[in-house]
Amino acid sequence: MSNLETITIERRGRVAVLTINRPDKLNALNSAVHREGVAALDELRNDNEVRVLVITGAGEKAFVAGADISEFEGHTPVTQRDAFHERSLFNSLDQFPKPVIAMIDGFCLGGGNELAMACDIRMASDKSRFSQPEINLGIMPGGGGTQRLTHLVGEGRSMEMILTGDMIDAATAEKFGLVNHVFPAAELGAETMKLAEKIAEKAPIALQLCKEAVKFASRSNLDEGLRREIDLFALVFSTEDKQEGVSAFLEKRKPEFKGR
Ligand code: COA
Repeated sequence: MSNLETITIERRGRVAVLTINRPDKLNALNSAVHREGVAALDELRNDNEVRVLVITGAGEKAFVAGADISEFEGHTPVTQRDAFHERSLFNSLDQFPKPVIAMIDGFCLGGGNELAMACDIRMASDKSRFSQPEINLGIMPGGGGTQRLTHLVGEGRSMEMILTGDMIDAATAEKFGLVNHVFPAAELGAETMKLAEKIAEKAPIALQLCKEAVKFASRSNLDEGLRREIDLFALVFSTEDKQEGVSAFLEKRKPEFKGR
């Protein structure tokens, strides 16, 4: 992609790194970030060379410090609804078929926390801080915060974060299950790439179906979820990679997955 103003895309082997690049505004999500991010995801989902996506924020201070508050003033209810739902980065990430890892180093607030929660796995530095501070602006989370935070950390902890707007530190976020792992800031990049590369070696179609099944778990009841899983399990048996994985195991060699 060319002429990007607010994000960068870097390919590192089979891992793509999307960086939100507004460090002087703590990577706040303005409409350009949403527009360029959605277009980048559209392209990356069709790029067979890319198997895993990492999302991060530029600079050492913030992952993303929230929605760009300066844009709120000009929004009507209708334009705000459109900005956050129809073609938002939150929705595009939610529907992105490949595994996505959020790499969080610094403030992860409001829409930033909602963005991280729309990813599949969250890796954070020990100096990161998390909140849903919308209540302090007299508003409420609108990028999935009330729903995804509650699924991830439970109702009591979600209520407290959303009703107070207070920040929690990285250790607390890890204890709550909001982030998967916390590392010293100097190790975060290497540890995130190690995880991304490990996942990128797996069979791409199976990864996609796993992701779909796990996401369905919080959107259905158990019987519906079990039915969906067995259908997806049957589907994965139609892939060449299933044949390769099983043959490689029986032949005691490393599988070579091709995404077919
Ligand atoms: N929207 C727009 N601009 C933002 C922003 C946001 N969410 N968060 C930070 N910025 C901008 C600041 O206005 C400032 O811009 P300026 O240099 O042109 O004045 C720049 O980023 C640096 O932020 P600053 O506030 O000076 O840094 P700090 O270290 O003193 O404070 C925070 C950091 C994160 C505590 C503070 O920026 C903050 O509270 N941000 C808003 C968080 C928020 O409420 N997010 C949810 C929005 S719904």
